[in-house]
Amino acid sequence: MAVVLICGGTGLIGRRLCELLAEKKHEVIVLTRSIKKQRNGSHSFALWNPDEGVIDLAALAKADYIINLAGAGIADKRWTEKRKKIIIGSRVKTGQLIVKALQENPNKVRAVINASAMGWYGDDSRLKDNETAFTEEMSADTGFLGKACAAWEASIDPVTQSGKRLVKIRVGLVLARTGGALKEFMKPVRLGFAAVLGNGRQMQSWIHIDDVCRIFIYAMENERISGVYNGVAPLPVDHKTLVLELAKQMKGSFFVTMHVPSFVLSWMLGEMSAALLQSLTASSGKIRKEGFQFLFPSIQPAVKDLLSEK
Ligand SMILES: NC(=O)c1ccc[n+]([C@@H]2O[C@H](COP(=O)([O-])OP(=O)(O)OC[C@H]3O[C@@H](n4cnc5c(N)ncnc54)[C@H](OP(=O)(O)O)[C@@H]3O)[C@@H](O)[C@H]2O)c1
Repeated sequence: MAVVLICGGTGLIGRRLCELLAEKKHEVIVLTRSIKKQRNGSHSFALWNPDEGVIDLAALAKADYIINLAGAGIADKRWTEKRKKIIIGSRVKTGQLIVKALQENPNKVRAVINASAMGWYGDDSRLKDNETAFTEEMSADTGFLGKACAAWEASIDPVTQSGKRLVKIRVGLVLARTGGALKEFMKPVRLGFAAVLGNGRQMQSWIHIDDVCRIFIYAMENERISGVYNGVAPLPVDHKTLVLELAKQMKGSFFVTMHVPSFVLSWMLGEMSAALLQSLTASSGKIRKEGFQFLFPSIQPAVKDLLSEK
């Protein structure tokens, strides 16, 4: 049993990760900016404030591993210049705080597992003729998300100077019943519409919530794993396939497919629409070579599982 400190563990990935770590009998402490609940049985909470460089040192001293998921929501608000600064700043400050805390305080942390995102790669148009998917050694895109991911990853890199093992997981589009993209895709389907964004041909490197959490745990538990890994399912699909699979499983044949034109998305969401319309095919080969086995490699069973009552 290990003590795992999860920074930003109150969000979509963190909540499920807490459950899966508890099932494996690990002790979990969630580091949050505001304690909403006291001990809830499976995990406890501790405070930090990345804006002010403050972290609970008692929690840090207990931790065997740190998993860092913290950062302002990428799709929560329109990407104004102010919002972009918050998206990058919240990630860089948390990374820097973890680095500083580990350098300056006694601790027994064995490894830091840090989230990153597919935004590192940009659009499939960056792939060369002989490349079919983005792999981990490829350079960061020069668009906003590419720059944000590059700054995010660079902020945590110095933990290796304190002798810590560092793993960075570039997370794909997380499919979960309780939040994120799938919940949004489900809203029009409930009304009988399969709403396809743009032409629907854009590839989506998705991952089931349980598999992404299991990758974080796998990276934590296996000492040979270090460096960058893509956190995406082995079989990406185009956006239309994903939405139609969801509609079929929710409504049988009782739905109408409609396309939301790119210009409407661009008008509604501004620059953020590019992230929804871009095609992104990433490889899961590196983590699979390390022995990781996906529970949900393909979309149909993944959607079926997420829609099933549990
Ligand atoms: N979900 C996806 O599809 C997806 C895809 C790719 C990458 N990712 C990345 O993976 C990480 C976890 O994803 P998630 O979906 O679980 O995210 P989430 O639901 O938005 O949770 C992130 C957590 O970060 C903390 N946070 C928010 N704003 C912050 C700020 N300004 N400073 C410090 N902490 C802040 C919050 O915790 P407190 O309020 O408790 O402090 C929040 O619960 C995120 O960094 C996300 O960008 C997610």
